[in-house]
Amino acid sequence: MTTRAGNAIIRTSVPPFTWWRGLKAREYLENYFEQRVKERRGKDGSDLLSVLCQSEDEDGNKFSDEDIVNHMIFLMMAAHDTSTSTATTMSHYLAANPECRSAAAMSPTGSATARSTSRRWTSWNHLTW
Ligand code: HEM
Repeated sequence: MTTRAGNAIIRTSVPPFTWWRGLKAREYLENYFEQRVKERRGKDGSDLLSVLCQSEDEDGNKFSDEDIVNHMIFLMMAAHDTSTSTATTMSHYLAANPECRSAAAMSPTGSATARSTSRRWTSWNHLTW
């Protein structure tokens, strides 16, 4: 919802419109990550959130809670938006192009037909949209 709010036509917080829903969704993520930051401060861990909570510069300055929360939301958006659109586009192309679908379902060491279809994938121009 936070990502979709970027396409909102009415860019003012009026329920139940997209911009308002985007702000609500962002609030939800802020609350979620604020809690996670509280849990991880001062604890060991090699995951990104723990590392951001522990990192400090040569003067001992740490990232603020707000910085970490914003970075984690950015990370989630970067990961979610790209992965979902890639998976959706891939599914669309596979559904619209049965010969690619059957080639994808076969192992790369499968039949000669599958291998030659896979080779033709070096050009995307013939794919149906
Ligand atoms: C199909 C999947 C993905 C594609 C096509 C993709 C593509 C990209 C591209 C092109 C950029 C550079 C944007 C720019 O600087 O102009 C980028 C940056 C970034 N991506 Fe991805 N990404 C994908 C998945 C992910 C995932 C799964 C994560 C996190 C788990 C992620 C996290 C990030 C982050 C944090 C940046 C910003 C890095 C920085 O500027 O410091 N991405 N991605």
